[in-house]
Amino acid sequence: MAWRYNLARQATAMVRCGVQKYAQPVQQQALLPVSVRNMSTNKTRDIDYQIHSQADLRFHESTGSIVMTKGDGIYVIDEQGNRYIEGMAGLWCTGLGFSEPRLAQAAYDQMMTLPQYHTFGNKAHNKCIDLAEKLVQVMPTCGKSPLNKVYFGSGGGDSNDTAIKIIWNYFNAIGKPEKKKLIGRVRGYHGSTVVTTSIGAQPGMHQPFDCPYGDRFVHTNVPHHYTFGKDGETEEDFATRMADDLEKLILAEGPDTVAAMFAEPLQGAGGVVIPPATYWEKMQTVLEKYNVMLVSDEVITGFARTGNMWGCETYGMRPDLLTCAKQLSSGYLPISAVVVGQHVYDAIADFSQKNGVFGHGYTYSGHPVSAAVALETIQIYEERDIVNSVRALSVPFVNGLTDLLDHPLVGEARGVGLVGVVQLIADKETKKAFHPSVKAGMKVFTACEEHGLIPRVTPPGDRLAFCPPMIITEEEIKDMLGRFRKALDSVEPALRAAQADYEANNE
Ligand SMILES: Cc1ncc(COP(=O)(O)O)c(C=O)c1O
Repeated sequence: MAWRYNLARQATAMVRCGVQKYAQPVQQQALLPVSVRNMSTNKTRDIDYQIHSQADLRFHESTGSIVMTKGDGIYVIDEQGNRYIEGMAGLWCTGLGFSEPRLAQAAYDQMMTLPQYHTFGNKAHNKCIDLAEKLVQVMPTCGKSPLNKVYFGSGGGDSNDTAIKIIWNYFNAIGKPEKKKLIGRVRGYHGSTVVTTSIGAQPGMHQPFDCPYGDRFVHTNVPHHYTFGKDGETEEDFATRMADDLEKLILAEGPDTVAAMFAEPLQGAGGVVIPPATYWEKMQTVLEKYNVMLVSDEVITGFARTGNMWGCETYGMRPDLLTCAKQLSSGYLPISAVVVGQHVYDAIADFSQKNGVFGHGYTYSGHPVSAAVALETIQIYEERDIVNSVRALSVPFVNGLTDLLDHPLVGEARGVGLVGVVQLIADKETKKAFHPSVKAGMKVFTACEEHGLIPRVTPPGDRLAFCPPMIITEEEIKDMLGRFRKALDSVEPALRAAQADYEANNE
């Protein structure tokens, strides 16, 4: 059936493109599902020509996208004119919302001055120099040595990829070539390149793509106390168990072979897993005992998201390297950075002299237009005292999330700064989860969209994340969480019925 359906859609696509002579007969076009035939041309063209990220591609063909055409503050507006609160700041990106004119102006001015240049060899341009200096000025002081040398990229994944190459290069440089393994965490997310897919561990990202690639990637547990804490186990005891597990892993692999651990201060895409009390202190004691480096992946948590400029400050982490992207330019243009400690830089600089080259480079490293927008973004964060602003807004945000705990569908509701999560639960007493076939998270997500709100479903499929633009007001926070509660109410009977149905047939 699928081939007939595809043939028919391909035919209509060709008609739209004016390729009349290859068009299929009319009766085959009639095979198109009604849902597709009724879609706007944007929707059908999207289905015809574009492969979407992180989607069931066949299912997507039957539903299509919500096509956005405009942004306005914390809202995005679709082609039908529906307004949605972007409860996820796009993809954890648009700290300054969707209509900041100063960022548009910064891009325009740079386009008119020097629209493209590079940083290969002995070339630079003033914007990437200004931005590197600015980034070093706003770096946390909790690094193992001052984080003071910047390498630019275009996205979070390639910055982590670069960080991995720098670490491998570093251990070759200091004469420990066997120290190459990298520790990630279950449900960690560090990007979609081959190595960052391998160091992360998100559902659906490993096995279908033959990752982890090679034998350099190992994973330790997701530190989610609500789900994995044992009966009566405190957060502190749970953190001790997580650190013990990490130590066992390092010993099993051989400490001389383990180079670094990659970690988001809080696991974002893996379900906004806020680390349990004492977690980072205990984990770092183990890492430092075995000379394992720590990379703080601040692609989500950077630039005030957790109520400090950096997530590693919020959780007392002592990174050797730090990566950032997304809010670096408020997501307006692609740009990312790896910032390394002086001890790392010194080793790789000497090594490059020995080899004749630091053999790594991207055409768009420190792209001048992206750099200009990032500089303006940081300037705005500073002018508006974004750290204190997030701290103030965090009070109604986190309280509003906690208030949702009285809802029968809500098991856990937590937040820090302006990032948070609600976990759906079938039975609050026993902490019984909805069966995956109920698709609880997706049903709530769809109901949210119907109520003009975009949150995000995160693993294991029943956690709804919130990470609104940091320009959100207290009133808008109330509105956002009010819409969420209405969505929960509207969908509860359907979730209960689907769960009862599943239990009647399977238990
Ligand atoms: C913590 C973290 N690291 C890395 C990435 C990858 O960033 P990008 O999609 O820009 O490659 C993401 C993306 O969401 C992320 O959340």
